[in-house]
Amino acid sequence: MPAYDYSVLADLYDDFCVFDEDIEFFRSAAAAARGPVLELMAGTGRVSLPMLGAGADLTCVDSSPSMLEVLSRKLVGHKQRARLVCGEVCSLPLATGFELVVLPFRGFSELVGESTQLAALAETARVLRTGGSFICTTHNPTIRGPAADGSWREIGRFQGRQGRTFVLHLKTALSDRPGVVVGEQRVEVLDAHGRDVERRSVALEFSLVSPAVLVEMARSVGLAAGRMLGDWDGAAFDETSSPALIAIFEKVG
Ligand SMILES: C[S@@+](CC[C@H](N)C(=O)[O-])C[C@H]1O[C@@H](n2cnc3c(N)ncnc32)[C@H](O)[C@@H]1O
Repeated sequence: MPAYDYSVLADLYDDFCVFDEDIEFFRSAAAAARGPVLELMAGTGRVSLPMLGAGADLTCVDSSPSMLEVLSRKLVGHKQRARLVCGEVCSLPLATGFELVVLPFRGFSELVGESTQLAALAETARVLRTGGSFICTTHNPTIRGPAADGSWREIGRFQGRQGRTFVLHLKTALSDRPGVVVGEQRVEVLDAHGRDVERRSVALEFSLVSPAVLVEMARSVGLAAGRMLGDWDGAAFDETSSPALIAIFEKVG
């Protein structure tokens, strides 16, 4: 089960989710892939469209019909086609055969609980060809943990469609379950005159997983750890400063 109800925000997602620092990284990975590429938790296609543009033979999986509906509309008239699959990463409705699997936007964090995380890793290993790669992104717990202090933060103000401004707020706190953060995300929509015209909020939870635990879980399902990056420019992971953990695994025989 996803840790957020994405149907609440799907139609607004592209207005406030304008993060693009990882795009070049995934575009290059897709361009270098020598076979089919699978994107897990593809959402509305923030990363899918650039990967398609790079020539990827792409399959996108997401459990939210609302998010996939937005992606499917964007693909109408697009030169390249992607296969869109509504499904859970813990039970992928796909056969083996992918050269590259990617999980962008710290998506691994949205898998809460060890059994869920292990199931997703095992499914990823199953659908990868031997020798294929898995790029898994997640939070750096050392950096993200202290920000889960129970206070509301304004994450940003984004100019969206029809002159509207989308203000994103987030409140997160450590729960009583080890490594699990709970919280709420709120989006305020202001019209062109700055009037508050709509507010939506959604409960969320995510996990903080240490690199060592991730590597061990992956190893147990046949994924060997390779490079551990800490930023989209290819910098090595540094527990004390990296904004994310980008772990690259290889499926071993
Ligand atoms: C934060 S969005 C990221 C979307 C996109 N990857 C991006 O970078 O903008 C996370 C997505 O993961 C999907 N998701 C969450 N848990 C999932 C699960 N267990 N199986 C499949 N999809 C899941 C959600 O529906 C949502 O579309």
